[in-house]
Amino acid sequence: MKILVIGADGQLGSDLSKIISASEQIPLTIKELDITDREKILAIIKKYSPQVVINTAAYHNVDACEDNLVPAFAVNTIGVKYLAEACLASNSVLLHISTDYVFDGTKGQPYLETDTPNPQSIYAVSKLAGEQIVKYMLKRYFIVRSTGLYGAAGCLGKGGTNFVETILKRAAVQPELQVVTDEVLSPTYTFDLATAINVLIRTEHFGLYHIVNHGQCSWHEFVVKIFELLGQKPIINKVTGETFKSKAKRPKYSVLANANLAKLGLDKLRPWPEALQAYLTEKGYLQNAHRPNP
Ligand SMILES: NC(=O)c1ccc[n+]([C@@H]2O[C@H](COP(=O)([O-])OP(=O)(O)OC[C@H]3O[C@@H](n4cnc5c(N)ncnc54)[C@H](OP(=O)(O)O)[C@@H]3O)[C@@H](O)[C@H]2O)c1
Repeated sequence: MKILVIGADGQLGSDLSKIISASEQIPLTIKELDITDREKILAIIKKYSPQVVINTAAYHNVDACEDNLVPAFAVNTIGVKYLAEACLASNSVLLHISTDYVFDGTKGQPYLETDTPNPQSIYAVSKLAGEQIVKYMLKRYFIVRSTGLYGAAGCLGKGGTNFVETILKRAAVQPELQVVTDEVLSPTYTFDLATAINVLIRTEHFGLYHIVNHGQCSWHEFVVKIFELLGQKPIINKVTGETFKSKAKRPKYSVLANANLAKLGLDKLRPWPEALQAYLTEKGYLQNAHRPNP
């Protein structure tokens, strides 16, 4: 199978590049393919004629999106339209990555693929529009929503870091940490997400999927677990989102259920604490632990 990975040096893209065999993948960074360039997309997808195109590219600085509608929609919506167009012309399947932020966070229990989105930010509106364009244009597609991604490469859209690394850096210089209790999610290790995607694309079960590590926690509980695993005891104060004023609204509760994946018997994702341990091991923070097998 020929699989073209867009955003290949990003957090998820890097793990996809590790997991998909080298002989199958065509990894492209923004330098090789910018999805806002319609002509180039059409030419590249025609040239490689891949069976599957995986789009991890996004403009996803959530606060910046509020003031920067043009780049947000150019990448998260219009670029996705160009990709769908090129996939249609080359008979390629498109797997497009979306987000938990399409939900408003009021449900209070894990969101299913059948739940109605209600985006609360420009970022979320632009991502939902991207999903809708894929559904409108293609029959052979996968849309995969995930939440709170962290992976070894760090998130390029957020300065090459991720939540775990940001917290570790803060803990090294601050006597006490302030972490929110009122944002609850399913933090997901991109290695595990990439592993699940690599299985899903080999099926013909097209449609919408939630793919996250199992369980839920607040960011505060996540940070407590990081330091418990590391055997450290910094002071971690509980605060609410009000403490950190941000431009964009974020859902207070965006736990996803892997319902459609489970129906196929393909929901092999581990609980988030185990995934976090695997991440800390991969990064070399934990000794005597084993790296997960793909
Ligand atoms: N991070 C999260 O917590 C989270 C949560 C839920 C869903 N998601 C979704 O998951 C996906 C992957 O996120 P990630 O954390 O892996 O992000 P990431 O590390 O920022 O990776 C995104 C990749 O796409 C590239 N890119 C950006 N604009 C592009 C364009 N116009 N054309 C081609 N490539 C472009 C980036 O390159 P440059 O950085 O060099 O521009 C980067 O390589 C995104 O769709 C995001 O919306 C993320």
